[in-house]
Amino acid sequence: MNFKSLKTLAVNGKQVIVRVDFNVPIKDGRVIDPSRIQAALPTINFLCEQKCRIILLTHLGKPKATHDPACSLQPVFEYLAAILPGVKFAPIVPGTAEAITRSQEVRPGDILLFDNLRFHTGESENDLDFAKNLAALGEIYINEAFSVCHRKAASVSTLPTLLPSAAGFQLQKEVEFLQKIMEKPQRPFIGIIGGAKISTKLPVIRALLEKVDYLLLGGALANTILKAQGIAVGKSLIEESMVSEVKDLNLVTNKLRVPIDVVMAPSVEPDALSQTVAVANVPDEQRILDIGPETLELYKMILQTAKTVVWNGPMGYFELPQFEQGTKQLAEIIAGLNAETVAGGGETLEAINQLKLNDKFTFLSTGGGAMLAFLEGKPLPGLEPLTIE
Ligand code: 3PG
Repeated sequence: MNFKSLKTLAVNGKQVIVRVDFNVPIKDGRVIDPSRIQAALPTINFLCEQKCRIILLTHLGKPKATHDPACSLQPVFEYLAAILPGVKFAPIVPGTAEAITRSQEVRPGDILLFDNLRFHTGESENDLDFAKNLAALGEIYINEAFSVCHRKAASVSTLPTLLPSAAGFQLQKEVEFLQKIMEKPQRPFIGIIGGAKISTKLPVIRALLEKVDYLLLGGALANTILKAQGIAVGKSLIEESMVSEVKDLNLVTNKLRVPIDVVMAPSVEPDALSQTVAVANVPDEQRILDIGPETLELYKMILQTAKTVVWNGPMGYFELPQFEQGTKQLAEIIAGLNAETVAGGGETLEAINQLKLNDKFTFLSTGGGAMLAFLEGKPLPGLEPLTIE
């Protein structure tokens, strides 16, 4: 996949729309993990050096209504204002006549952030007229939002067809890296998939099983597979409708590894009393909430042989200290490997951040769903318009 690259476009002095993904976690009106904002800075700074007039477009969350205050970009603007002099905020829905007028007032060196793209239904509906109105905000389009490239949205898949367009630096780096490890991984290549929903992750599990030497599973999604193997999982979270679908997984391959012991508790209350047991010994009234130490030891032994590792999804309910060891120790193990290591997904990156292990990974993808879709080999609607044949 070759991209139209930002450096090949004559951007000097132009009005440039940068589609970023500033869909970042916000608590009490403050950005609590700015990784995605930081990742877009090299592109924004480059455009500033080129004396561009910059228009930033992003979505945030899933607004329930136009101007849903919980999804306003005000906190993102406040974070940006502290690190980017010259940034201004127009709390206006982009793609409206008012936004077009406002965009005409932007001066060289200005960076203008509009409010949430999803305040207009045209964004998620990939509406052509809405995309045309977005195109009227600038002369050039840069996609610096890998993490939303799996969405067929107006600002992602249609807008780049209406203007000269290119990939931002981070997006390009991200795709090239993921492409390299999927096409020519150094072996042994080990995949790790965790998280809650097997229904969301089954396609990537199947795709990875074609490529990896081992696939290690954890999180609630493994419960459904345990159940399909005839193991009693008590009150654990499972997807009953998926049990028959995952029955064949172990039959087609011996690469798959599921937990051999687990940390369980009767509930996910903060004061829930946890216990570690072999996976065959989960009583009816208990829930599996983390992988156990023997599983970690087994996964560690396998990982120590790895030359390439790709990881998405936590091993347990790591929000509570009783159930955080699986995810955190796994992060430590991967961080200590002499291998190319890539991780992605909101919760996975949160765990890595908490442990301050960011620079111990070869690459951290900004994408959750987008990374999974890429690994699955799906065409991404946001990448196709940026690709050179
Ligand atoms: C993400 O956080 O994965 C992207 O920003 C896409 O968000 P969405 O799942 O709400 O489309």
